[in-house]
Amino acid sequence: MTKLLVQNLDKSYIINEGFGKRSRVHALRGLNLEVNEGEFVTVIGPSGCGKSTFLMVVAGIHPFDSGVLLLDGRPISEPGLDRGVVFQDFALFSWMTVRNNVKFGLSMKGMPEEEQHRISEHYLRLVNLQDFADVFPHRLSGGMKQRVGIARAMATEPEILLMDEPFGSLDAQTRKSLQTQLLDIWRETKKTIVFITHSVREAVFLSQKVVVLSARPGKVVETIPINLTYEERVSLSGPLMEYERRLENLIEQQIKGDASMRPVRQPPLAQSPDMLEHEMLD
Ligand SMILES: Nc1ncnc2c1ncn2[C@@H]1O[C@H](COP(=O)(O)OP(=O)(O)OP(=O)(O)O)[C@@H](O)[C@H]1O
Ligand SMILES: [Mg+2]
Repeated sequence: MTKLLVQNLDKSYIINEGFGKRSRVHALRGLNLEVNEGEFVTVIGPSGCGKSTFLMVVAGIHPFDSGVLLLDGRPISEPGLDRGVVFQDFALFSWMTVRNNVKFGLSMKGMPEEEQHRISEHYLRLVNLQDFADVFPHRLSGGMKQRVGIARAMATEPEILLMDEPFGSLDAQTRKSLQTQLLDIWRETKKTIVFITHSVREAVFLSQKVVVLSARPGKVVETIPINLTYEERVSLSGPLMEYERRLENLIEQQIKGDASMRPVRQPPLAQSPDMLEHEMLD
């Protein structure tokens, strides 16, 4: 069953260039994507191709220009508790204890205190932080903070979890450990997850489907189903490496095809392909 449906999605930003000049940057153009219920889908692509933009649009934080964007058949137009978001920089409430961070969305829902406590306890246990419920975020390591972020996003039992490079600022060892924990959480809860990363290995390790975006303006160039067992994932098996190689090649092709990444050979300005994406408004 389709959870998230994205059809022909366009998103651009208006940039104020100063001196009264404005221009438009096309971040996403004609993006099509379908995420099924219970699926773990990762979006990967060259830097600046519009991955975070895509996530912010699905989160309802940024508006989009045109196209279709449906969650469970309903149009997305603003943020909502049916979508849980986890950012790279944790974004925890520093003035609240770990438990109150996790309870936050539940209190927004107007849930009775007792139930808030029971649910927050459940999700703190899921991320193995039940013993840290009463401490403040500044006392936690980066990995622990991000586990609070995951518990907080999951506690409201959203229809879909949106994660933008959640492990991007963690050290390699912590990152590996959280990847395994997230894979285990997903196996246990079968939550629908859209995950953004720069890491091909992380994408292959976690996902059932990897979506490769082109250089900006981002659109889907290929969707690769990852048919690996749990054991093949955790043992970094040969088949896992095969997927990695295939994805690395694909992303490299996208970067090579990206005019803005090539050395500048002084083309006439108006003919530069990158300029075509910067449409002057005034
Ligand atoms: N708030 C904004 N205002 C104007 N332009 C923006 C804004 N956010 C993003 N952009 C532009 O949109 C394009 C896509 O940016 P985005 O952050 O979505 O890419 P990304 O794929 O997440 O990049 P990265 O891999 O570096 O995280 C970039 O050219 C960026 O400069
Ligand atoms: Mg980004």
